[in-house]
Amino acid sequence: MPIVDIHTHIYPPTYVELLRSRTTVPYVRTFPDAPESSRLIILPGEDDPSTPSTSRGRPIGPEYYDIAQKIAFMDTHKIDTSVISLANPWLDFLPSEEAGEAARRINDDVDGLCAQYPGRLYAFGTLPLSAPAETAIKEIERLAGLKHMRGVIMGTSGLGKGLDDAALDPIYAALEKHETLIFLHPHYGLPASVYGPRANEYGHVLPLALGFPLETTIAVSRMLLSGVWDRFTKLKVLLAHSGGTLPFLAGRLESCIQHDGHLKEAGKTEGRRDVWDILKTNIYLDAVIYSEVGLKAAMNASGADRLLFGTDHPFFPPLERDAKEWHSVNANYSAISTTFKDDQASAQGVLGNNAVRILKLGL
Ligand code: URA
Ligand code: ZN
Repeated sequence: MPIVDIHTHIYPPTYVELLRSRTTVPYVRTFPDAPESSRLIILPGEDDPSTPSTSRGRPIGPEYYDIAQKIAFMDTHKIDTSVISLANPWLDFLPSEEAGEAARRINDDVDGLCAQYPGRLYAFGTLPLSAPAETAIKEIERLAGLKHMRGVIMGTSGLGKGLDDAALDPIYAALEKHETLIFLHPHYGLPASVYGPRANEYGHVLPLALGFPLETTIAVSRMLLSGVWDRFTKLKVLLAHSGGTLPFLAGRLESCIQHDGHLKEAGKTEGRRDVWDILKTNIYLDAVIYSEVGLKAAMNASGADRLLFGTDHPFFPPLERDAKEWHSVNANYSAISTTFKDDQASAQGVLGNNAVRILKLGL
């Protein structure tokens, strides 16, 4: 029975080089008070000058960019195959004229890393979304011909106005045509003001535990409300972190749609595909939720045959220096084993068989 990790990131050397050349977020740099350690500063607000330089962002070591370390991590955690993806913030920040070339270079780099470990690595590509739509469409077409690519990872900003922007329609059409799955992943979180004036005392907890999942939930709700899946009925989207909070809130979302006089008057409450239909037809959910409660909600929303194991490596490493196994990974394993304790076929599906089938992995 294969174990497949579909939520696992890399910053390939070409991307780290790009971040090292920058001085505004996102960037990689050393600080005078700790010149031996580079820090990765990617999240909005992470380089707030009121934060000591040694607590800004996170230290970046080879686990972020060295593919051999990914394989070692997979071996430690009994993962047969990983579908690697560039981590946030992808290419969102690049000037329009640089994005197309950067996407080609980075996608080729990642495809080449996969080629070094046949059968063990596949990838989700990245799109040049700050470039004109035609450039992104050309990359979608090119990715369809790269041997190890099994979809694209995308953030929630789209072309700058979010995923309900009608200007994305040609891109959605190209993705649907090439049967390219979108792995939708958060990065921007919520405005810092919602975390309050004491936010600095709480580290990354509020933005990562709540900001990330709510960002995903809002992005996917906006896609639904704008009728993306009514126009692109075959568009497939894999949602990070078990869909943010969508499985839990889907009923409330649907009820709010049905009770909205403005939508009713505009004729938008009838003849549309509802959230439950889309959850079971177009959406896949990863199993990166660390508890049985969340995983059961995901299973009830989309079905056990649409859930896929993930780790979020290299994020959330153990804080103990000598730990070998990662608590974050074992929490996801254990949520799967308790949720599916009486259904081994479903457990094996979530751990790997679903990924093999859905992503056509040639194991
Ligand atoms: N933090 C990030 O910035 N990205 C992830 O994928 C996980 C944690
Ligand atoms: Zn992630």
